[in-house]
Amino acid sequence: MSESVAVLGAGNMGTALAQVIAANGHHVRLWSIEHDVLEEVRDKHLNTRYLEDIPLNDRIEAVWEMSAAVEDARLIILSVPSQVVRAVAADLAGAIKPGQLVLNVGKGLEAGSHRRMSEVIAAELPDGCAPFVGSMGGPAIAIEMARGQPMAVIIGLPGADERAACQSILQNNHLKVQATPDVTGLELCSTLKNVYAIALGVADGLQLGTNTKAFLATVAIEEMCEIATRLGGQRETVFGLAGLGDLLTTGFSPHSRNRTLGEHLGKATDWQRFLRTNTVEGVTACRSIAELAGDTDRLPLLALLNEILFAEAPAPATIRRFLESFSYA
Ligand SMILES: NC(=O)c1ccc[n+]([C@@H]2O[C@H](COP(=O)([O-])OP(=O)(O)OC[C@H]3O[C@@H](n4cnc5c(N)ncnc54)[C@H](O)[C@@H]3O)[C@@H](O)[C@H]2O)c1
Repeated sequence: MSESVAVLGAGNMGTALAQVIAANGHHVRLWSIEHDVLEEVRDKHLNTRYLEDIPLNDRIEAVWEMSAAVEDARLIILSVPSQVVRAVAADLAGAIKPGQLVLNVGKGLEAGSHRRMSEVIAAELPDGCAPFVGSMGGPAIAIEMARGQPMAVIIGLPGADERAACQSILQNNHLKVQATPDVTGLELCSTLKNVYAIALGVADGLQLGTNTKAFLATVAIEEMCEIATRLGGQRETVFGLAGLGDLLTTGFSPHSRNRTLGEHLGKATDWQRFLRTNTVEGVTACRSIAELAGDTDRLPLLALLNEILFAEAPAPATIRRFLESFSYA
């Protein structure tokens, strides 16, 4: 059945998802604050700022008013950076109707409140919307998705009917969509993998080799599990697409900004400059997670990342010291 879907945010991921959903036969209304992007989508079926020269599906309609985009949508996708999710959700509050599904793809916690994205969105939307709000996670590089390369993501929503509806809109021959009720675990994993990808980047910067990186990735996934379960998530979520899958993509992709920041740290180049010119979601997430997780005795890599990012500990010496002093009981 053909559905109407609204995508709020026409950046890398929003446009890639619009492309997938339109190719699945649904009508997509794509909304953005960047009007020149919308004009190019309308006039040329392209979004060259975010998606190179990939021709966009005819079923993607550029829409200037958020209320018009979401009017009859079965599913509303929020595809904006985590820092602006609350502002976009506040605008959406006046337009959404009860029962419309909301799927966030932003990865991170809200700075200051440390709240997860579905909590932030639900807090802004009218009463009764919360059961219909969830998130997407897993290894999802937008350009690969837009090109139709085989991949899998995971969606988290509280209700089984809502999960099934969302899955059926997104899933196709190329994109596999797993579903979970563990929204908490999924959103924590989406945040944590950005933090630990920085550590994997430090290993790249120091040219420590594949064995070291795999060792650090293993420590990272164990710490992610410890944190996610302490905060209410499930172990299976961490060892699935949302945790392990996304950590591998983010920690090993040359394009990941979090991994690249780590590489600058490892090489002891001007990483502060890289931070000033790039949004690196793992940095704020690192502080939030450390505050939320509490005792870092069993989280040595998280403690080390906080020392490097916020207490001026030199990354090369700090990570080498960690590797030398580590021992399995
Ligand atoms: N790019 C990816 O491969 C990918 C994959 C999975 C998840 N994500 C997550 O999705 C989110 C978006 O990532 P992206 O790569 O698409 O970002 P992007 O920078 O490509 O696009 C961001 C979009 O948000 C919009 N935006 C920015 N500030 C806004 C505001 N104040 N109000 C309304 N709209 C605003 C921009 O206009 C743009 O359309 C991030 O949290 C990211 O972690 C990205």
